[in-house]
Amino acid sequence: MSRKAAKELSDELGKSPGELRGRRVVVAGKGGVGKTTLAASLSLIAAGEGRRVLALDQDVQQNLAYSLGYPTDKAEGLRPITDEADLIEEKTGSRPGGHGGLVSLNPDVSDVVDRFGVFVQENLGLLVMGGVVHSATGCLCPENALLGALVRFVDTRDEDLVLMDAQAGMEPFGRSVTQGFDVVLIVSEVSFNSLKVAERIAALARELDMKEVDLVLNKVYDPVELESAADTLSFESFDHVFALPYDPTVRESEPDMSTIIGRGGPYSEAVKELLDYLC
Ligand SMILES: Nc1ncnc2c1ncn2[C@@H]1O[C@H](COP(=O)(O)OP(=O)(O)OP(=O)(O)O)[C@@H](O)[C@H]1O
Ligand SMILES: [Mg+2]
Repeated sequence: MSRKAAKELSDELGKSPGELRGRRVVVAGKGGVGKTTLAASLSLIAAGEGRRVLALDQDVQQNLAYSLGYPTDKAEGLRPITDEADLIEEKTGSRPGGHGGLVSLNPDVSDVVDRFGVFVQENLGLLVMGGVVHSATGCLCPENALLGALVRFVDTRDEDLVLMDAQAGMEPFGRSVTQGFDVVLIVSEVSFNSLKVAERIAALARELDMKEVDLVLNKVYDPVELESAADTLSFESFDHVFALPYDPTVRESEPDMSTIIGRGGPYSEAVKELLDYLC
């Protein structure tokens, strides 16, 4: 799909906002802090509890599928939503600016996965944003706008969880994407640089009127580290602060978190507590 068509389709979808119920969570933070691992773990635990989960991968590297335990060969063939939108256009015969068939009825989580994504499990769907890796301009604006519009377009029920693994840093964090979400979990290691990025993302999230901005300190070896983190940034600028332990089994089994989640252990137990709080 051309970038122009992506923009037109997102404008069209944006005219039909769905019912934004359930929990709609963005997982953000500096590169390498553990966003994908957390997004996958929350999705798997929630799906295991019987919730319908829509997992969204905003990262052009598209590695959320691996972390969800989706088979590697299939994950490599995943079509990003921009391509799927193209297919829909072909199927419905609608043209950019005239996506009547597509937007006539707000789809729910399962429909939107049927149309644009894949099911990792029966109640766990995945949509992949896609985009041009190393794009010359660095702006994935049309892709982000389409993803954001889709998220707002889909009808959700109270018990649903919509969870987006955001790209690293601040760039992908614009209103066109965040409008469909109410909580941002900003993941950070307890290092100075990571905490400073977390602080900037938090400020941006507030500017974008996110209802809830939480900090998730990840890979914590010792609770003492939380005190030094609190010296670097004010915990008071967050609605909640969570800590997830450093767990060697996470790294050993990476990227697939589905094995760990079934087995329990310190990381998955802490993530379960975080999910209990969220949902
Ligand atoms: N609590 C943890 N304990 C131990 N290792 C962890 C923990 N959380 C994440 N990791 C490891 O840290 C590495 C980076 O994790 P992950 O890929 O989830 O980060 P990311 O923020 O998504 O990175 P990117 O910005 O590149 O997308 C992986 O090797 C993962 O296994
Ligand atoms: Mg990642």
